[in-house]
Amino acid sequence: MKLFIDSGNIKDIETLAAIGIIDGVTTNPTLLSKEPGDYRDNLKKICQIVKGPVSGEVTATDFAGMMREGHDIAHIDSYMVVKVPLTRDGIKACKALSGEGIRVNVTLCFSAAQALLAAKAGASYISPFVGRLDDVATNGMELVREIVEIYDNYEFPTEVLVASCRHPIHIVEAARMGADICTCPPAVIDQLFNHPLTAIGLEKFLKDWEKAHEAVKA
Ligand code: G3P
Repeated sequence: MKLFIDSGNIKDIETLAAIGIIDGVTTNPTLLSKEPGDYRDNLKKICQIVKGPVSGEVTATDFAGMMREGHDIAHIDSYMVVKVPLTRDGIKACKALSGEGIRVNVTLCFSAAQALLAAKAGASYISPFVGRLDDVATNGMELVREIVEIYDNYEFPTEVLVASCRHPIHIVEAARMGADICTCPPAVIDQLFNHPLTAIGLEKFLKDWEKAHEAVKA
């Protein structure tokens, strides 16, 4: 399963990308509006850092506007993926942009029916928002299971990009279900590394090593 960073923060992206486990980045208007500087320059920098798919989202809500902004975003860098919302105009723009060879990530997906439409429109990625479903007392991961099943049934090439991940269990469940990608905020990726037994075990190994060497020296 691929791991994307869900952030527009250059420093956080640099830090995690340097470890060598990051496959791409997703952004949205909320995330990019938190960062200083021109968003196009920031997206370009992110592409240079990760050298993998980087999603930038349109803010237009009509077909013509989405096409205009989609072309703009696609021209920033060859790694750019155009993110469109799952609306009628978004699905129409997805079909048109995909037809031109531009990769599209269809975002704000909250049902399997919506995911089916995105696949039919040639989306490269579908983004079900699991955390936001959990927030309204609906099991977000069940939606991922349904989408994986439907896409497998028809061999749709659209990749399932699990978004709105809030904790490591979302990521582990997504991997067990066979989702293609999880996109996570930097803090959630940091959590993946941690286990108290790893910390305790390492401390003991180092202490024992030190003791043995002190004994040899004495
Ligand atoms: O990738 C979508 C993601 O940014 C939404 O996450 O935590 O705002 O629901 P969240």
